[in-house]
Amino acid sequence: MTPTAFYPPDLEAWWLAVAGRRLRLRDPKTIAQRLAETAGRLSDAFTVGRQANFSDCYADPLTVAAYGNYFFPQTYVRARLAVGELIARCGWSPPAGRPLRVTDLGGGAGAALIAAVDLIAEQFSQTQFDAAVIDRSAVALKLYRHLTRDRRKRHLFKSAAVSADLAAPAAWPDLAPRDLVIASFSLGEAFYGKPAAAVLDWLAAMREKLTASGLLIILEPALKETAERLERLRDLIVSAGGTSRWHLWAPCLHEKPCPLLAGKKHWCHEVRHWPVPPTVNRINDRLRRSVWDLKYSFLALGTAPPPAAPGAADGDPRRVRLLTPAVSGHGRLLLSGCNAAGEHADYDLLKRRLDPLTAKQFARLQRGEVVTFSAIEQLGGSCQYRCVGLTPIC
Ligand SMILES: C[S@@+](CC[C@H](N)C(=O)[O-])C[C@H]1O[C@@H](n2cnc3c(N)ncnc32)[C@H](O)[C@@H]1O
Repeated sequence: MTPTAFYPPDLEAWWLAVAGRRLRLRDPKTIAQRLAETAGRLSDAFTVGRQANFSDCYADPLTVAAYGNYFFPQTYVRARLAVGELIARCGWSPPAGRPLRVTDLGGGAGAALIAAVDLIAEQFSQTQFDAAVIDRSAVALKLYRHLTRDRRKRHLFKSAAVSADLAAPAAWPDLAPRDLVIASFSLGEAFYGKPAAAVLDWLAAMREKLTASGLLIILEPALKETAERLERLRDLIVSAGGTSRWHLWAPCLHEKPCPLLAGKKHWCHEVRHWPVPPTVNRINDRLRRSVWDLKYSFLALGTAPPPAAPGAADGDPRRVRLLTPAVSGHGRLLLSGCNAAGEHADYDLLKRRLDPLTAKQFARLQRGEVVTFSAIEQLGGSCQYRCVGLTPIC
């Protein structure tokens, strides 16, 4: 489990208190039981049951409490993981000498924004923040205001809650160009049923809203439908070419056409373990969903290209984003991934060559992690490799 996958107890307590007040209950177990059914309904609305009329997470006090106690933590940790990768793998850092301008689009109560701010403050302790949440829901914006007011002492924080349509950036009130924009589980909702061209137009308008080194992170559910929509969008961005196009920072390690779209066997998404907070666990006691893994697809785009990856040259098939964890079979460990050469490739390694420490390292690898094998050799089939240098460098 990566240290990034962390949900702060103070946020858990804050949302539990919101639920307690709204439901006039005190006991955490009873609160969780009351929230379970609504959390299940919301869960379906956000993922499998996505429809033109997405369920409103702020429709009534029970729904707000279910969102805050069940989904807010998941959004928070997903956003931490995505921002964490951009820092650790891509070398992103906040600008020096002025506050980081960060915006959460369709941010609701600001889970993704607060996660990004917390993580960046942990890793770059001098950072100050100029934050904005944009959402169409007045209830969500009010929750965001209350939550940031209650946590303000934690970070140097200027904060705005903006009521606007995220799909129409030209109509937003004036905000200084942003360094980091996150749209978590909101873009698919705002553009539901609209053609890819509409999202491309939006992306073009969004470039004007970012600084010359700005980043846009889009998080969406891990469903095949939603992940492939991001894959197609990513291919359209790459094929558009030109100097004013977006650059891919993550998840892709290359700018060739998405090999997963061609193959149809896998779709690009992350599956990450996290320490499930007690309240999520209690709610899930009734729901029995697979909350132990956080699943999501994402796309991180930069107005400038990412810095060169350390440890492997561009197009190097040793560098790979995993599409599976390591699976054991016939004296070998098998992994599948999307590599920096733009291939959907299979990797194996012989167990007899593994020392116990390396075996443990491999066993811990999760879908979506990026590793660089120190040495590989090509096997008979195309896109099939054997790892002979056995150190995965994460
Ligand atoms: C599924 S919720 C996600 C909330 C939060 N970002 C998260 O990941 O937990 C979708 C959010 O997008 C907002 N939203 C959807 N369409 C929007 C639009 N066109 N303009 C502004 N906000 C929008 C909703 O009000 C809601 O807060």
